[in-house]
Amino acid sequence: MLIGMFDSGAGGLNVLNACKKTVPRARYLYLDDSAHCPYGNKPKEEIERIALRNAKLLFDAGCDVIVIACNTATAAAATLIRKTYPDKAVIGIEPAVRPALSSVGGKVLLLATPITAGLRKYPDRVIVGAEETLAAEIEAAYPNAEKLEALAEKTLEKYSGYEAVVTGCTHYAYLIPYIRAPVFDGADGVARRLKAVTDKLTGG
Ligand code: DGL
Repeated sequence: MLIGMFDSGAGGLNVLNACKKTVPRARYLYLDDSAHCPYGNKPKEEIERIALRNAKLLFDAGCDVIVIACNTATAAAATLIRKTYPDKAVIGIEPAVRPALSSVGGKVLLLATPITAGLRKYPDRVIVGAEETLAAEIEAAYPNAEKLEALAEKTLEKYSGYEAVVTGCTHYAYLIPYIRAPVFDGADGVARRLKAVTDKLTGG
C-alpha cells in the first residue's frame, strides 16, 4: 500500500511521522511543495489548482490513498480533489477544535492560516488567530530550535484568555514544545483515520 502526502513544505512531516507510527507497514511518498509556500494567503482558486496538481502527481505515481497533510489545502481543495477522484480515498487534516473544546471549559486559541481561519465558522468559545506569515517563517526557521522558540513567543504574546491552543496548520506543530498550555493537533486524528481506511482497503 502506497500512501501519498503533500504540504507546502516541512509542516506535513509531522503528519507523516504520526501516520508512520500508526500504519507502519505502508510505504509513503511525501511531496514537499515548498515551491508554493505559503498556501495560506493565496486565493482559494489558486490553492485548488496547486492541490489538484499535487493529487494528480501522487495518484499518477501509484498512490492508493492520499493524505492532504495541510489544513489549508484541506479547507480550500479537499472537496474538489474528492470530486475529481470519486473512487479514491482522500484524507484531509483539519484543526482539532472539537477535542480542544471538549477538554477545557474556557476559550480555545485556534492558530491557523487566513484561508483555514476564513473558510470555516468556529464556535464562540474559539479565539481565531489568523496568522498571515507564520507558516512561511516556520518554513524558513525549521529546524533551528532557537528560531522556532522565538516564533512561538512572538506569536503567543499577541493573544490572551485561552486555556488551550489548537495548532491549525501543520507547520505550527514545530512550535508545540514552546507552548505553555495544552495543545491539540490534528495529526493523530489523521493517522487514526488512515488506519481505518487502509484496514478497509486491505480487508485487515
Ligand atoms: N502547513 C499548511 C497548513 O497546514 C499551510 C501552510 C502554508 O503554506 O500557509 O495549513
